[in-house]
Amino acid sequence: MAVKYDDKKKIWVLETKSTAYSFGIHPSGKIKNTYWGKRISRFEDYPAFEGYFESPWWDWNDEYPVRGGANQTEPCLQVVYEDEVRDVQLNYKSFEATEQSLTIHLEDEHYQLLVSLHYQIFENEDLITKYVTLENCSYSDIHVENFKTGSFYLQPTDDYFLTHLTGMWAHETKIVKEPICDGKKVFESRVGRTSHFHNPFFAIDEKATEDTGNVWFGLLAWSSNWKTVVHKLPYENIQICTGLNEWDFNYALKQGEKLASPSVLFAFTDCGFGDMSRRLHDYERNYILPKQNAQKVRKVLYNSWEATAFNVTEENQRILADKAADIGVEIFVVDDGWFGQRSSDKAGLGDWVVNEQKFPNGLESLIEYVNSKGMDFGLWVEPEMVNPDSDLYRNHSNWILHFPNRPRTESRNQLILNLAREDVKEFVYNTVDGLLSRYNIRFIKWDMNRPIFEAGWPFEGNQRKMWMDYVTNFYDIWQRLKEKHPKVIMESCAGGGGRIDLGIMRYADQFWTSDNTDPYDRQFIQEGFSLCYVPKTMMCWVTDWAGKDTYPLQYRFHAAMMGSLGIGSDLSKYTEEELEETKKWIAFYKRIRETVQNGSLYRLISPREKPFTVNQYISNDKNEVVLFCLKNPEPLSMFKVLKVRLKGLDEHMVYEIQGSGKSYSGSYLMNRGLDVDFMQKHTVKVEKGNHFDSRVFVLKKRK
Ligand code: DGJ
Repeated sequence: MAVKYDDKKKIWVLETKSTAYSFGIHPSGKIKNTYWGKRISRFEDYPAFEGYFESPWWDWNDEYPVRGGANQTEPCLQVVYEDEVRDVQLNYKSFEATEQSLTIHLEDEHYQLLVSLHYQIFENEDLITKYVTLENCSYSDIHVENFKTGSFYLQPTDDYFLTHLTGMWAHETKIVKEPICDGKKVFESRVGRTSHFHNPFFAIDEKATEDTGNVWFGLLAWSSNWKTVVHKLPYENIQICTGLNEWDFNYALKQGEKLASPSVLFAFTDCGFGDMSRRLHDYERNYILPKQNAQKVRKVLYNSWEATAFNVTEENQRILADKAADIGVEIFVVDDGWFGQRSSDKAGLGDWVVNEQKFPNGLESLIEYVNSKGMDFGLWVEPEMVNPDSDLYRNHSNWILHFPNRPRTESRNQLILNLAREDVKEFVYNTVDGLLSRYNIRFIKWDMNRPIFEAGWPFEGNQRKMWMDYVTNFYDIWQRLKEKHPKVIMESCAGGGGRIDLGIMRYADQFWTSDNTDPYDRQFIQEGFSLCYVPKTMMCWVTDWAGKDTYPLQYRFHAAMMGSLGIGSDLSKYTEEELEETKKWIAFYKRIRETVQNGSLYRLISPREKPFTVNQYISNDKNEVVLFCLKNPEPLSMFKVLKVRLKGLDEHMVYEIQGSGKSYSGSYLMNRGLDVDFMQKHTVKVEKGNHFDSRVFVLKKRK
């Protein structure tokens, strides 16, 4: 398990527990990929270039394909040199390796552009990362027009399928699986955030299931414009190219300047999608999430947005805080509407001072009250944005991204501050730092409610570098805030789940998954989210979004307990009985959350395949199992005793089902399976043909 170099064959092999990734110096002098797949048990068997299929017409399998020469695959790099030469010619220069990392240096000798490919292996999590740096060692600018991170190749077979996450606002991260056809399939964001439409994840499989089959997968760590192209080449070869989107991209790399690409995480498994997800979840918990909170459980949160919307006042928040504290909430969050002249989405955005009519005693008074009830206080901000009707805009209209002589789209009545500017970056940092320094705030929900269009930066020479600088400044702000306020939990939100990715996960402790909190829709959104992202970062609220009677409260809780639990309902409208039930479920969640948030997820039944969602979580010490079973209304599903075969248990041990007096061997539970009876003890309200029901089981391993 390490980085190895075979001097005879001139190949490097990156090996993790089960993955191998290999490339070498082709007789032509180019670095070409030779293998990506299951680790091969005998090192000398790794293929090099003997018998390597050469196309008489074009270059392929380049480890870092460029626009230049006879390459017709998707290029990772396109530049324009000073003399308008647009072809790149990279030669291998040298390499540096440690046990766990490898850097390959390539150079365009004539133009002194240095390209370095950086790889790192994560043995336990069984994954590899790669990023690329460019360095301009020449005396003139080099214009970078396309700069992707990775190009991956799969050998021809007939049976490849592509899985990706697609969607829209309120329906993010929907899993789509489709055959790979001739031509190119493109996923991208070009709106300055990760996107609701696609997530920068790909998986290619050969008829894999949750537990079986080959899956090659990758995940890009970037919160702005990105692009992935899945390209079926002639001779059935598959290329997957991923990285920054070249759309509207142009970065003038100055003499001596370096530019780093986002990193891509990739690996292979022959144990299906479940294994893929568990590895990603472990990696995110161990390496990506901010250290201070990575292993800690997320607290139960209440957010008043769905109860009071923009109409927040100290008075109505106190009423909600009373109820929230009574039912066991741990963080009380005031969402949009607390600042400036913000009584709708039409005004006030950008004026981050407390609205005195709504909070005549300042925010301190509410915070103290919330703290006196034993809860932390949290606040919503959207500091990248501005309403034209705001003092910020009146004072700094030149801070806005726009093209002169062109109309500006005012999506949700707001415009976008040009975060690529140093003065705007400092304003945004100081705004949030000021709030965190002044008030006892322990949680920030950072929103970005509109996409970036009309990305003009008037009077700036190299305007298109805005796309790069915006997001690097955005990361820089979050990093500084995290360093200065390490105890504050940060949530990334973008009108729901528009900014969910590994790039921001380095600073964000959690994500707002979707504005859609309908517990049925959520099962699809959450399943897609869990494919790549660890459930503890997936905020799930119980709300009355679909009306109180559409779904039983128990069902709503069970759907939301499969990630980190929040409550968004208008608690002031809850009956005593409903509040009691809510309290009971929150207390229950607190007992199981260590297993849900820090354990391993097994998706047993998908709502895409059956009228059920069944998810199993096993604690790290393997002593506790939590099993969620949700039944959805399909013909006859209400007359069902569902047999659920558990996974990942110790077959020789006995597991006690809490509260039932029953116990079974691991072997029984994994082979014969547990009967989940939806025919008896109906908790459902059988109305309008709806038959939503749910069960949750906690199993403890007998000592
Ligand atoms: C969009 C978010 O997704 C919502 O949860 C809420 O915070 C609103 N913005 C507030 O404007």
